[in-house]
Amino acid sequence: MRSKLFVPGCRPELFVKAMDGAADALSFDLEDSVAQAGKAQARADLAAFLRSARALASDKTLIVRTNAPDSADFEADLQALAGARVDLLNVPKVESADDVLHAIEALERHLHRDGGLPGLLVNIETPKGLRDAARIAAAHPGVAGLQLGLGDLFEPLGIDRRRGENVHSAMFAVRLAAAQAGVFACDSAHPEFRDGAQFQAEAELARSLGFVGKSCIHPRQVEWANAIFRVGEAEVAAAQRVVEAARVARDAGRGAFSVDGRMVDPPFLRRAEAIIAAAQRQSTHVTEPNR
Ligand code: COA
Ligand code: MG
Repeated sequence: MRSKLFVPGCRPELFVKAMDGAADALSFDLEDSVAQAGKAQARADLAAFLRSARALASDKTLIVRTNAPDSADFEADLQALAGARVDLLNVPKVESADDVLHAIEALERHLHRDGGLPGLLVNIETPKGLRDAARIAAAHPGVAGLQLGLGDLFEPLGIDRRRGENVHSAMFAVRLAAAQAGVFACDSAHPEFRDGAQFQAEAELARSLGFVGKSCIHPRQVEWANAIFRVGEAEVAAAQRVVEAARVARDAGRGAFSVDGRMVDPPFLRRAEAIIAAAQRQSTHVTEPNR
């Protein structure tokens, strides 16, 4: 899931356009991009689209961002989505393990289907949520990933997003919380869509921290995210050399050995295996990372 494009639920004319675009995942939004007066119409239009043949046949990861779990709209969102294709449910403003359990309980009531439940992609975007991120990620096996939300976390507090150290602190905390629970981390959306410099700097930082991809709000950002999070051929070839050398070393009873002038031992081998797995997901369009 290198790129995850937000599509406002109140703009059904964008649904097919987004499906035809380059994003690995689409996140149809019922929360902040939809005004209160338009919520009912948006959820009806979105649910109808996600039941259509076009949506059912798509090889993209299809996500719905609901309203916050403590809002009256949350229950209505899930009710409307019964029988619709939802690969991941993105829940905003989660602040505790109890919020996760509440969301899972509602999911079980409304979105249960033969193949199980859609995974939860949980937003970490409040000070409390960030402090409890590890407990939130581990609250239930249905949590598939953590989603950083820097707009909600920084803007009301006056935290300057252009300063890399501010962004790094939040990213690092979310990435380690996700890792502790064995789930993936996805980077925040960025409001700047004309000039790529800020988005790209954030995306590079997120990739260097092991995030799987970045949220986008505009098709132009999708191109940037796909390029930055793409697993390249040279990276895969280097990883394959590590895996092959590990096999030879294992047969010789060695745990530490050298490849391309670097020492390799088990954590480096695990990273190489993860790179190969990510490349395979990329080529087979399986965009939701394994847990
Ligand atoms: N999904 C699909 N298509 C989109 C799109 C999106 N999120 N955002 C823009 N496009 C399309 C436009 O329809 C336009 O298509 P066209 O060339 O066929 O007319 C093209 O991409 C270029 O769009 P542009 O004119 O540059 O943008 P805009 O001024 O129309 O819209 C935004 C800018 C920010 C309002 C819009 O991109 C948007 O609503 N993004 C999502 C916001 C959101 O969901 N926020 C909540 C999560 S943080
Ligand atoms: Mg938000």
